Amino acid sequence: MKIAFTSCFSAQSFKQQPVWTQVGASGATHLVLLGDSAYYDADGSDMGAVKAMGAHDFALHAFGRLRDQLNQKEFAKLVRNTSLRIHPIWDDHDFLWNGACGAQIEGQPSYRHLLDPTRAAFRAYRDALDSHDPKTFPKPADGWNLGVAEPGYRTLMLSNANDPDGAVMLHLTDGRSYKTKGGEDAVLGKAQMKKLTKAIEASDEKTVHLIASGLTFEARHGETWMDCVAEHAAILKLAATRRILILSGDVHENRFAVPWPTGPWSLFEVTSSGAALRTAVTIGALQCNWGLVDITKDQVSIELSQLHMDTRRRVIDRKKWKML
Ligand SMILES: [Fe+2]
Repeated sequence: MKIAFTSCFSAQSFKQQPVWTQVGASGATHLVLLGDSAYYDADGSDMGAVKAMGAHDFALHAFGRLRDQLNQKEFAKLVRNTSLRIHPIWDDHDFLWNGACGAQIEGQPSYRHLLDPTRAAFRAYRDALDSHDPKTFPKPADGWNLGVAEPGYRTLMLSNANDPDGAVMLHLTDGRSYKTKGGEDAVLGKAQMKKLTKAIEASDEKTVHLIASGLTFEARHGETWMDCVAEHAAILKLAATRRILILSGDVHENRFAVPWPTGPWSLFEVTSSGAALRTAVTIGALQCNWGLVDITKDQVSIELSQLHMDTRRRVIDRKKWKML
């Protein structure tokens, strides 16, 4: 079973997005979008402008940016491919703005009114992807729903123990809604961590767990799951007894993290970010980055592809859960 993954793309300046044609040709049956499907606060907008918007204006803005992405030619073609399912999570730029933390926004009267429209826009985006028809996304005159819940935590069995590729479970996380400023207290937050822990602990130990996270688990700078020591330690603890591969985004480059020796097994992380933008969104080198995980009964192979560079590949022995 092949699962493609990437993040960070902007339809405003990037009218050509060849990455989606490459994903379509890969034979992947799932695509995980790890955040920043649009940049509400960049690429023709900025954080100050978004912060000053009323709910209605922000709704028009957010829905407009996601609609532009759904109508982008190569992306729309991929969405219409019914043999591929697309699973999006959000990160800061398609939540509100750079570094925005939900726990903090909830308590700020000046920004709370933006939560309803951003949740509604993201839900509509997810629904349009599920429907395989970009045209089902609301038009500007359609209005938007109040009271849509945040994306939160969701899990999907991509394949079962009896299937030829064995059990594969995808965990879609919400790293923005409950994140506290600085991340020390929470990245996912207690409730989401509890659900994730329960789902992983309850699984058969042969299951491969793909944890989709906007933030990287490890990073030398910027936002990272390491900011929250308790959650970081809890994930490492889970990885001592379960086969976990974290798929992350955010950083506008591809990278393999150094495996964590957590006991008999390792915790793996692979990052793919910068599907269609430049290093710093509109400046820097053009990025066309994506990844592919190919899971069989015996191994998990991971490929990272980018412009003008050789494809990099790593293979994990599924039984030993060690890098080959
Ligand atoms: Fe990004």
